[in-house]
Amino acid sequence: MKRFLNAIMLISVLALASCSTEPKSDIDRKVDELLSKMTLHEKVGQMNQLSGGAWLVDQAAKGEVGSILNCVDPAEINAVQKAAVEESRLGIPILVSRDVIHGFRTIFPIPLGQAATFDPAIVEKGARIAAVEATASGVRWTFSPMLDIARDPRWGRVAEGSGEDPYLDALMGVAMVKGYQGDDLSDPTSLAACIKHFVGYGAAEGGRDYNTTMISERSLRNTYFPAFKATAEAGAATLMTSFNEIDGIPSTGNKWLLKDILRDEWGWDGMVVTDWNSAGEMIAHGFSRDLKHTAEQAINAGVDMDMMSYGFIQYVEELVKEGKVSEKEIDRAVRNILKLKFELGLFENPYVDETASAKIDYAPEHLEAAKQCAIESAVLIKNDGVLPLSGAKTILVTGPLADAPYEQMGTWAFDGQKEHTVTPLAALRQEYDVIWEPGLDYSRDKDMSDFAKVRRAASRADAAVVFVGEEAILSGEAHSLSNLNLQGAQSELIAEVAKAGKPVVAVVIAGRPLTIERDLANCDAMLYSFHPGTMGGPALADLIKGKAVPSGKLPMTFLRDAGQAPFYYNHNNSGRPCNGTETLLNDIPIAAGQTSLGCTSYYLDTGYGPLLPFGYGLSYTTFEYGKPSVEKAELGRDDVLKVSFELKNTGKYEGTEVAQLYVQDKVGSVVRPVRELKRFERVTLAPGESRTVTFELPVSELAFWNIDMEYVVEPGDFRLWVAGDSASGTPVDFIVK
Ligand code: BGC
Repeated sequence: MKRFLNAIMLISVLALASCSTEPKSDIDRKVDELLSKMTLHEKVGQMNQLSGGAWLVDQAAKGEVGSILNCVDPAEINAVQKAAVEESRLGIPILVSRDVIHGFRTIFPIPLGQAATFDPAIVEKGARIAAVEATASGVRWTFSPMLDIARDPRWGRVAEGSGEDPYLDALMGVAMVKGYQGDDLSDPTSLAACIKHFVGYGAAEGGRDYNTTMISERSLRNTYFPAFKATAEAGAATLMTSFNEIDGIPSTGNKWLLKDILRDEWGWDGMVVTDWNSAGEMIAHGFSRDLKHTAEQAINAGVDMDMMSYGFIQYVEELVKEGKVSEKEIDRAVRNILKLKFELGLFENPYVDETASAKIDYAPEHLEAAKQCAIESAVLIKNDGVLPLSGAKTILVTGPLADAPYEQMGTWAFDGQKEHTVTPLAALRQEYDVIWEPGLDYSRDKDMSDFAKVRRAASRADAAVVFVGEEAILSGEAHSLSNLNLQGAQSELIAEVAKAGKPVVAVVIAGRPLTIERDLANCDAMLYSFHPGTMGGPALADLIKGKAVPSGKLPMTFLRDAGQAPFYYNHNNSGRPCNGTETLLNDIPIAAGQTSLGCTSYYLDTGYGPLLPFGYGLSYTTFEYGKPSVEKAELGRDDVLKVSFELKNTGKYEGTEVAQLYVQDKVGSVVRPVRELKRFERVTLAPGESRTVTFELPVSELAFWNIDMEYVVEPGDFRLWVAGDSASGTPVDFIVK
């Protein structure tokens, strides 16, 4: 620990030294000049972010608001901007923000679905399109990407992130930041990104939103920080603090996180905003006495802008007079805010062209990209030879998610208009003679009175496709669930359709991994589509018909039962890992003696494994992995590990496989995960084609925060697997000297 602190001090000294010698950029000079003219009241105004539009004109004119959120009407935005630019004393423009989470008008799959593509390029493209559409309406700042590692599907916000793996999370986060911001923040289509929620919010105990988290410093560093660090290094313009507390300290008042780590250790120079009233909520946490105290704690911890607590605007001037917050802290915060406004070119171009969005929203190429992303995001979970339904003529379409244009957009799709959504029902009608029987009106519907009708319809069809899942409102913020089975009578609907004896395809459209084991038993095939967005219908119709082939892989472990949560593939081993001999409930004799039933780590009812592992996903074709070979089995710490293997398409369709490289550090100074994803690649092969794939992994990427809290590669024995999911593959050993 001591060595680590010394390292931090050294870094801080170097950072200070470089600040004093580096020539100031034009923007820094402009910021200094403007700052020197500002009163304390005007500075505090910049630190205040409020929700709303036209009714904030007066505050804007008085320079009492630095940023607004939740207004997307270009005329209203221009009105507020005009007040700020033309009526306030210094004419500082407003920064307009919005939660553009997976598309603005053209809605892409929810971020968890985007992660299932394992395709950073399509994710970057989606973020770019979101930026083009949002900026056309006057929005220049989005609160995305959400980087919270989520290992408990009961937490409703798993929908908003990239799932359970730090490496995938970092790659997807960087792709989004690049897509939103483009090459240069000053481009009018550049949307400043906000990496959130710093940090550990996804580890809410019990999956209950806003709940306490218990994360050690080492876990923070090894698991929760990496995506933030990677996106900070990729140039993310802003960062949002999280609602949760860690080890008793709410993030919004956590100086260690916001100053020591973010600024001193990582050297990041962007702008920090609170989450919605997360400063104010430090009172409910019992960390602050009152609103004034929250402002003092948040600013001194390193927050620059206050979202919706009203604490800064009311109390900061008093706090400065009382000496509880220094003007230096205020200048630091305002400097970060003004710098971003200059970088975005807001001083030169504060207004939005009020006619622009009508020409840009839902452009054909946006819809095409959204469809491609939805195709890649769907995960084929089961297929007993029925998909694709290429031979069928007449199909039954049923289920509450078949024609639910609003629901298929998923959570945080404020600006997507359901009139533009194409549902699976509409798209399948282009491909088949469709018999349409909804069966249930919405996902929580328990009324089974139409089921007999649905079954009769199924017997008249060549096959049945049942669209089940979750309404948009069942996942997302504050939408945690303790039971993850399909809601309402949806499982019963699948079972009823199965009674007709025709091939049954279940399509699950949901915001999280649901526990679908009992439903798998009643269908011949299952496609899992995390809320797929505007073009979900055509994407799913192409997959069902066989015009497209599934390639998505699970970004989270799928559970047998919610009671298994949290469950993730890259866990540490216990001292008693399962040895393959599970004694399950039905194996236990009545009046059994007090034996320990094998003494390994598993549940008596659900066993050791999950339903489906991270990284899992089938295709219409099959792939065979050859045994991987390493170029060198002994490597130095500066070497690059090279692993090659043959991948062969052994089926009848052209398809894309996401080949994955996992590594285990077999013995560490602290216990290491059983496997960690280190590389992946989407490989497209024609039937019968094979290719040699090579993964290159610098040994330096095997570093972790060790017993001395140093980030190092520890020499020793390692093991790797190359496979189509996190539970397969033939192990190959190598050594780092
Ligand atoms: C959420 C954030 C979001 C903010 C602004 C909060 O409730 O936690 O993720 O960006 O609201 O809408």
